[in-house]
Amino acid sequence: MASHGTPIPMISSPCGALAGVAEVPGDKSISHRALILGAMCVGETVISGLLEGEDVLATAQAMRDFGADVTRDEGGTWRVQGVGVGGFAEPASVIDCGNAGTGVRLIMGAMATQPITACFTGDASLVSRPMARISDPLALFGARAMGRSGGRLPMVIEGARDPVPVRYEVPVPSAQVKSAVLLAGLNAPGQTVVIEREATRDHTERMLEGFGAEITVANEDGKQVITLTGQPELAPQVIAVPRDPSSAAFPVCAALIVPGSDVLVPGIGLNPTRAGLFETLREMGADLAYENPREEGGEPVADLRARYSPDMRGIEVPPERAASMIDEYPILSVVAANASGQTVMRGVKELRVKESDRIEAMARGLRANGVEVEDGEDWWIVTGCGAVRVTGGAEVETFLDHRIAMAFLCLGMAARAPVRLDDGAPAATSFPDFEPLMADLGADIGRDV
Ligand code: S3P
Repeated sequence: MASHGTPIPMISSPCGALAGVAEVPGDKSISHRALILGAMCVGETVISGLLEGEDVLATAQAMRDFGADVTRDEGGTWRVQGVGVGGFAEPASVIDCGNAGTGVRLIMGAMATQPITACFTGDASLVSRPMARISDPLALFGARAMGRSGGRLPMVIEGARDPVPVRYEVPVPSAQVKSAVLLAGLNAPGQTVVIEREATRDHTERMLEGFGAEITVANEDGKQVITLTGQPELAPQVIAVPRDPSSAAFPVCAALIVPGSDVLVPGIGLNPTRAGLFETLREMGADLAYENPREEGGEPVADLRARYSPDMRGIEVPPERAASMIDEYPILSVVAANASGQTVMRGVKELRVKESDRIEAMARGLRANGVEVEDGEDWWIVTGCGAVRVTGGAEVETFLDHRIAMAFLCLGMAARAPVRLDDGAPAATSFPDFEPLMADLGADIGRDV
């Protein structure tokens, strides 16, 4: 698959115990939202701990293109001078969101109720992903979209001149769709209502409240009903971005499967809409402790301590937990490959439309490395190798998908023979320092020249 950058072939070899402290980067979901909402209020929002991965940097650039002033000082603090709700300028050229589904979808929502037109594109992965799930609800506000066949990027959105508020039940469990509708609702008069059948990550709701919007969440007949009052004056905020649980998942899971390991991953966001993986790992028998639980920036946070866990067993992951761990199935499948027995993952159709078809990408690479995997449209089952350990020794394709790349690098650490990647470069979209951070813990990862 073609990418913007040069592919970086990598190799991850079996290593000794992983030990030490792993300071993972800021939360990707929260970072995108902090920049976008910072651009939609009047005044200066100050953000610390922002993820400086490619995805989020593309959103920062997009906010500049829509007229906000976005800067970073030498200490790593970001400042966003917002233009106010409804104050976006029309970008002079195409908005390229790179690999970032969250970036492009949330920004489309934010601009769709403003009287401007913008054209969006991205890398080979992003232009293959479904966007009708965003343009359909935006049309209800009065926006018009024109994309490629199948509702794919590049896509032009002509924002509504006289937006109307909407009531929308999200047809797929997607925080990106929910958030796009809420951000569009910001510049529509009256109340926009979003209904979710399954709760998904709620960072947008929390942050909108923090910025001073009037937003309520009610539970009606088992559904979440989110009501936002449009055209508020948002007040600038000081935001400390917690560290990303989806990034913490990699050193945590690597420690669980590499003999003798003991790794501390401090300051991890444990918002219940994101923490499903850790619950699942504990049910599998992982030695995983939450230390020093506290609240930071409106989000629950703790330090995670993960120790080598030789007795993990496969489980049936409850399908209703899928939304709270949707990005973690690739690395969970690596843990499952090292556990004993079968890990059954159902209700996960959304994995097929992520940065890659994640069931297909993981199933192919795991099978190549000696792991038994069965899969169907919305399910897959991994049979663990247990004490025999994963064979390894094969090269895998990463399909421009950061989480596939990092999952297979972790597989190599605990396998009997090295695992090779055709391209490890995608890790930089969410975890730019993955390689040195894991090397500091004792991993043997290198560029495969
Ligand atoms: C995200 C939502 C999820 C997730 C993505 C980040 C967000 O996508 O996979 O990495 O920040 O809202 P969906 O909304 O498509 O499930």
